[in-house]
Amino acid sequence: MKTRLIVVLLLAVGASLAASCREKLTAAKPDPLSRAYDTEQDWNDPQRVIPLNYQQAQGKRMFYQYCVWCHADATPAGPSNRSNLNPAPLLANDGSALNSLSDDYLRNIATLGGSAVGKSALMPPWGQTLKQDDIDAVIAFYRAIAQPPYQVPARPGPKYSVR
Ligand code: HEC
Repeated sequence: MKTRLIVVLLLAVGASLAASCREKLTAAKPDPLSRAYDTEQDWNDPQRVIPLNYQQAQGKRMFYQYCVWCHADATPAGPSNRSNLNPAPLLANDGSALNSLSDDYLRNIATLGGSAVGKSALMPPWGQTLKQDDIDAVIAFYRAIAQPPYQVPARPGPKYSVR
């Protein structure tokens, strides 16, 4: 009789412990912003803050040092050079134009410059200035801030053409 009572008690304690553990697991859902290395405010929506992983945060540093002058409208030093260029460089967050271009294509134009891929020579070649990892990081940053958001394609795109 006594042992049965103890078994029932133990079961009850076990069940309540299991329930409380489950509650804790759901409560501890991590906030993506608290785990981010850096953030970027959505260029089109000041209410939205985009969390950046390590590589994207590296890319943000590169971007604001080398690319912001032509690929954004505002720079840390004031208005950009973008409106003076013809054709105007794409905004770095222009997902409607950039999402359909493969990482390899973007890597090539960033490394070799516009003229190497039949585009404007006003896009400088960065292959001598930046390491490949840094160029990849800038591309990761572009993908992170794209509006509409970028989705990784099921198959990688071709290397030497736009599509
Ligand atoms: C001096 C201005 C200037 C700077 C600085 C610059 N770019 Fe560009 N970029 C251009 C121009 C101009 C084009 C457009 C070429 C065209 O459309 O013919 C371009 C195009 C591009 C494209 C291709 C998008 C498309 O239109 O197909 C990518 C990707 C790119 N730039 C990346 C970068 C990165 C990464 C950096 C920094 C490391 C950078 N650019 C810095 C001027 C610049």
